[in-house]
Amino acid sequence: MSTFTIDTSTSRATPVPVPGKRMTAPSIRARKLDGRTEQPIVMLTAYTMRMAQLLDPHCDMLLVGDSLGQVIYGLPSTIPVTMEMMCAHGAAVVRGSWHSLVAVDMPFGSYEGSPSQAFASASRIMKETGCAAVKLEGGEAMAPTVEFLTHRGIPVIGHVGLTPQAVNTLGGYGARGREEQERKKIIRDAQLVDAAGAFCIVVEGVIEEIATEIARSVGAPVIGIGASADCDGQVLVIDDMLGMFERTPRFVKRYDDLAGRIGEAARTYAEEVRSRAFPTSDQTYRPKA
Ligand code: KIV
Repeated sequence: MSTFTIDTSTSRATPVPVPGKRMTAPSIRARKLDGRTEQPIVMLTAYTMRMAQLLDPHCDMLLVGDSLGQVIYGLPSTIPVTMEMMCAHGAAVVRGSWHSLVAVDMPFGSYEGSPSQAFASASRIMKETGCAAVKLEGGEAMAPTVEFLTHRGIPVIGHVGLTPQAVNTLGGYGARGREEQERKKIIRDAQLVDAAGAFCIVVEGVIEEIATEIARSVGAPVIGIGASADCDGQVLVIDDMLGMFERTPRFVKRYDDLAGRIGEAARTYAEEVRSRAFPTSDQTYRPKA
């Protein structure tokens, strides 16, 4: 865990103990050398300060995903997610981490209009959160925007394949690329985003063959989610992998059953309150002796 004190000589918040350097976009990009990533890149989503503190030592990147729409706010999709939500949660995750690169998703409607709209939104996200990168969805149509941002000091993570913000045009959240035409399009999307300067690319919900072809043909590390083991790294939604929901997509491995454990803790608490077994003298203030 990091605590912060002000270094009066520089007026900068200096973490104590002094941590190693945070991961950067160039250091993540450099993990893939000559088409190979020796050690796969570890990414998880995080939305709160405390969760960031817990995940940070184990990850290379923390993603403040717009999946927070469903996970935190109970929204039906990522479409209604706002800049205000992304900035508030992004800042909390930056405050709770010191090692991982923190990337924040650009919400639907904040970047698709034009490269300058994207620059205004991305620079606001970076100023308000302190994050080191943004992620945006889309391939060919977004490549000029990726180039515009990267040439202006904004590291960008691309996101192709199943792009949840496009749920209304895709018609659902099923795996993509089972048909030849779409297979080719997804591979080309990734290649164009790569050529535009994305420092890594999330590939979501595609058949393995597509992930393999993308990972082999782009220079940037490919971070898979529902895209097989044949990627340069993996990302999962933290609440899915912790077992916070009853139903999870097939590609998720549940590493815990937090929903079950939280329910059990709440049940025990309720029983003890009702039977007056809680609080005991251990949890009761007394006058000083
Ligand atoms: O919003 C999100 O959590 C994401 C991941 C699924 C990659 O974009």
